[in-house]
Amino acid sequence: MSPRKNPVLPVSLPVPPTKINLKEVRKAAACCKACDLWKLGTQTVFGDGNPHAKIMFVGEQPGDREDLQGQPFVGPAGQLLDRALQEVGLDRKSVYLTNAVKHFKWVPDSRGKRRIHKKPRYSEIQACRPWLDAEVALIRPQVLVCLGATAAQALLGKTFSVTRQRAQWITSQLAPNVMATVHPSSILRAKDSESRRAQFEMFVRDLRRVVMVLDSSKKAA
Ligand code: URA
Repeated sequence: MSPRKNPVLPVSLPVPPTKINLKEVRKAAACCKACDLWKLGTQTVFGDGNPHAKIMFVGEQPGDREDLQGQPFVGPAGQLLDRALQEVGLDRKSVYLTNAVKHFKWVPDSRGKRRIHKKPRYSEIQACRPWLDAEVALIRPQVLVCLGATAAQALLGKTFSVTRQRAQWITSQLAPNVMATVHPSSILRAKDSESRRAQFEMFVRDLRRVVMVLDSSKKAA
């Protein structure tokens, strides 16, 4: 955020911004050096989607494609997520998508040709947390969905188990309805097409619960 002129003092001192919005936060996040991942990634990949979204999805970190494009969930995992959203009648444009970590962490493959995703460390997740907290505070979603263990443990505690607590509604200050499910990339890694199909169906089933809870809160209002 660029320093603005203090209206009271005759000198130019930085003052806190009076109006915080997603655009400002995104601009500030673009310069983040709170951990070393900015040196690895092409750019900060901030969240994207409807600023008035009722549903917010939080993934782990941008992948190769996201890093180059500067948008979350535009690679293969994002395409799978898009298909699942369509299955339950949700338009990608109506939701907000972001990640726990906003830089791509990677290592080169053995031939030095491809960038291989590397799981972020706890300290890197913590360093990025203020951006995620700002997004949650500004979007104020009705439903927050953690995609995979990294997002779930970042937001719901280190001991959270997606295997044990998948698709359960979790009491949290973050949003009225909070749940965790698998990360779409885990479905892409399924051992064969049959198990990929079954895992996709289970993922869609979890997203139906999201739609149902929104529908019932609309009816109750
Ligand atoms: N995986 C994530 O967790 N987030 C993305 O944006 C892409 C892949």
